[in-house]
Amino acid sequence: MQLKKLTLSDLRDELVGINSVVPLLDGTEQRYIFLDNAASTPTFRSVLKCVEEFMPWYSGVHRGTGYKSLVSTELYDHAHDIIGKFVGADLSTNTVILIKNSTEAINKLANRLELEKDNVVITTIMEHHSNDLPWRKYCKVIHIDVDDVGRLRLDDLRNALKTHKEKVKLIAVTGASNITGICNPVHEIAKWAHEAGTKIFVDAAQLAPHRAINILPDNDPAHIDFLAFSAHKMYAPFGTGVLIGQRKFFEHGLPDAVGGGVVTAVSLDEVYWSTPPDKDEAGSPNVVGAIALAKSILMLEEVGMNNISQHETDLLEYAYEKLMKIPKVKLFGPLDDFKNKVGVITFNIEGMHNALVAAIFGAEGGIGLRNGCFCAHPYVKRMLGISSEEDRRLTAEMVAGNKQNIPGLVRASLGCYNNEEDLDLFIDMLKSIAAGKFKGDYVMNPTTGTYYAKGYKPDLAKCFALDKSILPRIERYPSEAS
Ligand SMILES: Cc1ncc(COP(=O)(O)O)c(C=O)c1O
Repeated sequence: MQLKKLTLSDLRDELVGINSVVPLLDGTEQRYIFLDNAASTPTFRSVLKCVEEFMPWYSGVHRGTGYKSLVSTELYDHAHDIIGKFVGADLSTNTVILIKNSTEAINKLANRLELEKDNVVITTIMEHHSNDLPWRKYCKVIHIDVDDVGRLRLDDLRNALKTHKEKVKLIAVTGASNITGICNPVHEIAKWAHEAGTKIFVDAAQLAPHRAINILPDNDPAHIDFLAFSAHKMYAPFGTGVLIGQRKFFEHGLPDAVGGGVVTAVSLDEVYWSTPPDKDEAGSPNVVGAIALAKSILMLEEVGMNNISQHETDLLEYAYEKLMKIPKVKLFGPLDDFKNKVGVITFNIEGMHNALVAAIFGAEGGIGLRNGCFCAHPYVKRMLGISSEEDRRLTAEMVAGNKQNIPGLVRASLGCYNNEEDLDLFIDMLKSIAAGKFKGDYVMNPTTGTYYAKGYKPDLAKCFALDKSILPRIERYPSEAS
């Protein structure tokens, strides 16, 4: 019997927790609207089922001789291939390294590049800290600026390549921004990198869940040399991250983490490293996470990444048409060209703190958003037009433990399963909040920069608790938010 092909419209029903109901400030309950997919996505039912079905066969991999170890090893290795093929990697020359998340992947690459103090990594001010701070540890980092909408100044990038010439060891750029959703022309940048004799790393943490990626053959001038992404943003939150790059690069040099699993032979004087990817997957690997990500990828491929991106583009068009008309709402990032923007909507409401707005959405609408600087402080401050002087003042305040004036934005981010109904609920609520129509009395905790609604003390242990006798940490809900 031919099984029915999975389509885009099946994904909503596939989502674990799509009908979860949460308590609101007024004592009622509401279906939870999850619009924080850029942080982490829920999982698919079929991914969870795959994990459950696999568990009876779970075993440590690679050196076990028992049947279960053989099964687990086979599946773990196969997962690498599925993940590599998803981004068009030539697996005869490229290796897929599975680690914890994108942050670990980028730290690994920064370590493995053997950077020296006077080497240069060109990155951008758009980056998540995970694609900025690891480079700063080892060498000089040039941050390419953006225009007022948040788009990368490509001419500046080309000029930086010309200025720093052979000192440039890498261009490290995000595929898509977690703040504005802007997609960078990574293949164009790859061509410039290769012309200049350097390499490119693409942080695909926000790109991989939303767009088809093809790193292209190694000898293509537009080839992506290194790529990273995270399973928890791709409907498989079981602790896996991915780093892909050419095998010969990882064959060279010392692994960043050493211990079991990364060696072929060890004596008291000598160590012989194993071949990639084992050499860079120190310790016992996350077999379950690898299988979950591979299953999720197979599902996304079955639906078609182009269908997913078209759906998300349609949702953005639908949303922005309405959002642009709401008085007092300031939208950040591009308001057109949605094909080159993943499903991220960032905004502020005039005269309201971003943390207050996000808190109202949660307590009164059952809508999960996120606010703040989203681990991309320089970009958010640039988008907000904060001067260096003001930045220094705010930083001093925050370092002293006062987060009262922490700058930021509010973000609603879409997954492939969100629909117009989710957006309508979000937009209606935004209209009300912007018009001053909300019920709660909110107070800020200055040490966390978070707002709490007086009287909103939902029983967090009601839905799920490891041990019902342990109450939710009380400081999250200070008594009457005093
Ligand atoms: C663009 C971007 N890069 C890197 C990361 C880090 O990903 P992870 O937390 O999975 O390491 C994130 C996380 O939000 C991100 O949005």
